[in-house]
Amino acid sequence: MKLMTGRVLDFTGDPALEGDGAVRYAEHGGVLIGDDGRIAWSGPMGELPPSAAGVAREDWGEAILTAGFVDAHIHFPQYRMLAAPGRDLLDWLARFTFPEEARFAEQAHAEVAAGIFLDRLLAHGTTAALVFSSVHKVAAEALFAAAEARGMALATGKTMMDRNAPAAVTDDPETGGLDSEALIGHWHKRGRLVYAISPRFAITSSEAQLAVSGALLKAHPDCLMQTHLSESRREIETVAALFPNDRDYTAVYERHGLLGPTSLFAHGIHLSDDECRRLSESGSAVVHCPTSNTFLGSGLFDLAHVGAPHRPVGFGLATDVGGGTSYSMLATMGEAHKVAMLAGRRLPATRSFYLATLGNARLMHLGAEIGSLDAGKWADLTILDPRATPLLAARDDLSESLEDRLFALAVLGDDRAVAATYVAGREVYRKA
Ligand code: GUN
Ligand code: ZN
Repeated sequence: MKLMTGRVLDFTGDPALEGDGAVRYAEHGGVLIGDDGRIAWSGPMGELPPSAAGVAREDWGEAILTAGFVDAHIHFPQYRMLAAPGRDLLDWLARFTFPEEARFAEQAHAEVAAGIFLDRLLAHGTTAALVFSSVHKVAAEALFAAAEARGMALATGKTMMDRNAPAAVTDDPETGGLDSEALIGHWHKRGRLVYAISPRFAITSSEAQLAVSGALLKAHPDCLMQTHLSESRREIETVAALFPNDRDYTAVYERHGLLGPTSLFAHGIHLSDDECRRLSESGSAVVHCPTSNTFLGSGLFDLAHVGAPHRPVGFGLATDVGGGTSYSMLATMGEAHKVAMLAGRRLPATRSFYLATLGNARLMHLGAEIGSLDAGKWADLTILDPRATPLLAARDDLSESLEDRLFALAVLGDDRAVAATYVAGREVYRKA
């Protein structure tokens, strides 16, 4: 047993929908971690169970102890190709992304990259993620193995893509399906790992491959399904030309049985009201990736449109590295605020922190295991120093509320604000 003390923050729900009561905060709080790597208790120190009085303590002072960040959309084979100057999404994919992803055919390259990638997530306070791998089976295997070695909760899968890309990054419907099946059999629900059926998007998957994807999801309904949807205008026009009989982009996935409660669609920027209604009715979710959307000039995600109460589509928050420009979920929250402002909306910091923890965990169907500090969940923790840099410290002096302090961390913070990261009660990162 070990007791960590400091400011303790987590959520029981989305504060935007459930009010401030969904925010749990203790200025003098503690998190008690059992030897099994799970949380034994968390709350205000005044309520510490008497049985824990003698347990070894680690005091984090004014730092904020919160559930580890969950990144709901990130690309492993793009781990080092951030800041590639494409003209738009499709140009960026063709010129920079596909050639870089081609390297992941080589097992040794994928294994080295997997270690670097996951350690980078941990250094940014991200303890769980839904990850796109490359088209190559060996790359997904390398990533699963590296996550298992770190004890992380990770969902990934072999990307399926069988057209409109170089041969070095394409498969075909049959091998794509067989490789996915083999990976599901070996890795899905093994420890903390989850398989995500991963057709890249409608432009790079043929009718036949989308059908295989739908059949995989039908056969394995507890797998996640991830793809991209309605990100850029030129992408949407291309999909319309490739699938002239479908009434919109969402219909392409819908027709292949790819909508549903375990489906996460990255971006969803230009969705019509009717597309949102069908996504909502199917229980599908979209994932907002603000740094990617501004970097690639894709457009402004409108959280009020997507989440409209009469047909709410659940949404998460993600970095989308390497289209995204930061591994930091704090920086991502700050950019989500700016995108919301440009769309005429507000995104309070408490809501961003909810989305980056319990919200994303729930979208990944991991809400019972991670995402908050409830007793029984895995002790995946991120410790944030609201005074990590001279600028943050000066700004923190002005903070008048929890919202204010979190907002400053989101807008000015990044990995420098991560003091330490824990996975299943084990320290996996500590700032030097
Ligand atoms: N759409 C299809 N593939 C990708 C990708 O790798 N990144 C982004 N941002 N969008 C995509
Ligand atoms: Zn993506």
